[in-house]
Amino acid sequence: MRGSSPRVAGYETSPNIALIKYWGIRDPRLNLPFNSSVSVTLDRLRSRTVVRFDPKLSADRFRLNGTELSGGPWEDVHRFLDRVRELAGLEDAASVVSTNNFQTASGLASSASGFAALAGAATRAAGLDLPPRRLSQLARLGSGSACRSIFGGFVEWERGTRADGRDCYARPLFDEHHWPELVDVVAIVDGAPTKAVRSASAMQASVETSPEFASRQRELPARIVAVRRALRRRDWARLFPLIMEECDSFRRVCETTTPSLDYLTATSREVLEVVRETNAIAGEPVAGYTHDAGAHVHIFTLRRHAAGIRARVAGLRGVATTHLLHAGPGGRTVRVPARGTVA
Ligand code: ADP
Ligand code: DP6
Repeated sequence: MRGSSPRVAGYETSPNIALIKYWGIRDPRLNLPFNSSVSVTLDRLRSRTVVRFDPKLSADRFRLNGTELSGGPWEDVHRFLDRVRELAGLEDAASVVSTNNFQTASGLASSASGFAALAGAATRAAGLDLPPRRLSQLARLGSGSACRSIFGGFVEWERGTRADGRDCYARPLFDEHHWPELVDVVAIVDGAPTKAVRSASAMQASVETSPEFASRQRELPARIVAVRRALRRRDWARLFPLIMEECDSFRRVCETTTPSLDYLTATSREVLEVVRETNAIAGEPVAGYTHDAGAHVHIFTLRRHAAGIRARVAGLRGVATTHLLHAGPGGRTVRVPARGTVA
């Protein structure tokens, strides 16, 4: 069906940081992961996207952070819009205008918030009103981790076991108000390269070549249960060591991939060391580090330790800036201004 006038909608979501990492796809067509994962949706950072299906357009257009994109990023958005058009029975091309208020393609999960925001905006503009679980499954097809950014707070993406992916979706574990004392100090490091390869491709090299991949898969179910329990009990003394163990396991898989995947800079490694030292001096795990496929480091700690840890990390040469973040809300509709183009 071609519309007679433009249909427009806006949506925004925040990136999430994985406490248990998704790293390996068992079905690339449906983006089904090998393992379940657990994340925190963050506040303050966001992708905001406006989609306009317009009968006057001859092809899809994608503008990100003020730049008209072509090539890979355009193709990913175009493929995603095709799925939405198919669901809605719509033929119009669309213009997509999106902004990330944080670095794109540097390991802060812009693909997660970007595709979750695109899923929300495109379905609404197409007149589809999908329940959150279905929206999460749709977002997963654009970027696996995007399925978790539909929800706020603490989220689990269940791997499911079905070949058709119907039992593979994200679900909220605890909302963003569950643990107000928990903070995430993010160390943004200088010289973090823009990623040339999206995580979804990089992780498949790990599946195929890392001798550590299989043993990690065996460890994960027990670790997920432990992380869920620590979150439920707000048990920081258990959670912080667990997320470091998980991050180290993820990094070992990356480093033993051929060719080796090394996302950290020397400064990132210093930040990890600061956390280990801080815990050693305190005599208890007052903080835990984690990072995704990128050089920036997230340090989870409690509000009362945040200023001290932030000051130590900010004092490192090579740390450009730090953010103090918390668990944040899930995806939300954005009111589109009358002219309907500015995201
Ligand atoms: P990151 O760690 O930021 O997720 P990736 O390299 O895995 O880095 O993914 C970045 C890619 O995600 C971008 O090159 C682009 O293709 C896509 N992306 C990022 N932000 C958006 C957005 N707001 N809307 C649509 N796609 C986006
Ligand atoms: C290390 O689902 O973000 O962040 O869409 O290609 O960017 P792309 O892949 P994505 O991969 C996430 C990998 C991870 C771990 C995680 O977020 O669970």
